[in-house]
Amino acid sequence: MEQLLEVKGLKTYFFTEEGVAKSVDGIDFALDKGKTLGIVGESGCGKSVTSLSVMRLVAEPVGKIVSGEIRFGGEDLLAKSEKDMQAIRGNRISMIFQEPMTSLNPVFTVGNQINEVLKLHQGMTTQQATLKSIEMLRLVGIPLPEKRVHEYPHQLSGGMRQRVMIAMALACNPALLIADEPTTALDVTIQAQILELMKDLKDRLGTAIMLITHDLGVVAEVADEVMVMYAGKVVEHGEVSAVFANPLHPYTLGLLASIPDIHEEVERLETIEGLVPNVYAMPSGCRFAPRCKHAMEKCTQHQPALTESKGHKVRCFLHSDAVEEDAQ
Ligand SMILES: Nc1ncnc2c1ncn2[C@@H]1O[C@H](COP(=O)(O)OP(=O)(O)OP(=O)(O)O)[C@@H](O)[C@H]1O
Ligand SMILES: [Mg+2]
Repeated sequence: MEQLLEVKGLKTYFFTEEGVAKSVDGIDFALDKGKTLGIVGESGCGKSVTSLSVMRLVAEPVGKIVSGEIRFGGEDLLAKSEKDMQAIRGNRISMIFQEPMTSLNPVFTVGNQINEVLKLHQGMTTQQATLKSIEMLRLVGIPLPEKRVHEYPHQLSGGMRQRVMIAMALACNPALLIADEPTTALDVTIQAQILELMKDLKDRLGTAIMLITHDLGVVAEVADEVMVMYAGKVVEHGEVSAVFANPLHPYTLGLLASIPDIHEEVERLETIEGLVPNVYAMPSGCRFAPRCKHAMEKCTQHQPALTESKGHKVRCFLHSDAVEEDAQ
C-alpha cells in the first residue's frame, strides 16, 4: 500500500499570555492512499490543531509547529514556502472545516465558490468550471444541481451546505481530505448520508481521509484505523477492528461506554468523571491519571510510552512498564 502522509513527533504549541499550551505534544501517524484514519477525543485534545498543522494553517505567531516532520507524497511539508502550500491546499490536500457557515462566503453563490477553486488550481475557464461545479454538486447528492449552483449559502439547509463544502473540497480530486467534524452539526439521517457519501468517494476516487470526530460510533462505521487522543497525546492507535475488539486504555473504554446503544434501554449513559487537564498545566505523569480509576502511584510520576499490545498501540502502565523517553 502506498504511503501518502507521514507525521512524526509532531509538536504544535501556542505561546499565550497564560503560558504555553502544548496542544499537540509529540504525535505520530501515517496514512495510506484510499484509507480512512479516524481521530477521536474530547474537546480540546488537539484534533483540529493536528489537522491545521498538516495544512500548515496554525495561527502564527502565537501557534507554532515546534518540532516534528510532516511528509506528504514523499515531500517535506514543513520545508515548503507559503506559496507552495497555497498550491497544495484545496488541490492535493483539502479540508472540510468544523463550521460550514463560516467557511462558505455568504455574498457569493455556491457555484462561484467552487468555480474559484477550479480556476485557481486547474486553470479552468468560468464555463468549464461551472459545468464541473454542477457535476460535483450532483456527485455529493444535491438535487437539481443546475439550479442550486446559482444559489447563495443561506438558501440551503445545513445538510446541503455541508455537501457543498464536501463538493468544494473534492473538486480538484485531492489525494488527502481532512474532514473536521463533518457531521456533528447535522441530524442523524443527514449524518448517515454524508458518511455514506464519504465512504463511496473513498472507494471510487481513492481519496485518503483524516476524519476528525468525538464519536466512536462514526469511526466504527467508516474508518480503517483509529487514533484516540487525550490532552495532546495519542493514548491508543491501531486498526479499527483491533481497537474495538480489545480496547485497552481506560480512556478509550470510557469513550466506548458512553456510546448509546439503540438496542438497549439504559437509564443513563456512563460518562468519564472529572475534567480534561488545564492545557497550561499538564499533569507531570500520565495526563489521564487524575481521572483514571486504575491510576497507580507511578502514573502520577511518569509518562507511559506508546507500546504495542494486542495488535495495536496503547499508552498505559496497565499494559507496559515502558516510560516515555521524550517526557517533558
Ligand atoms: N489559536 C489558539 N490560541 C491558543 N490556544 C489554542 C489556539 N487554538 C487551539 N488552542 C488550544 O489547543 C488545544 C487543542 O485545541 P483543538 O482545537 O485542537 O481541540 P479539538 O480537539 O479540535 O476540540 P473540539 O472537539 O472542541 O473541536 C485547546 O486547549 C485549545 O485551547
Ligand atoms: Mg476541533
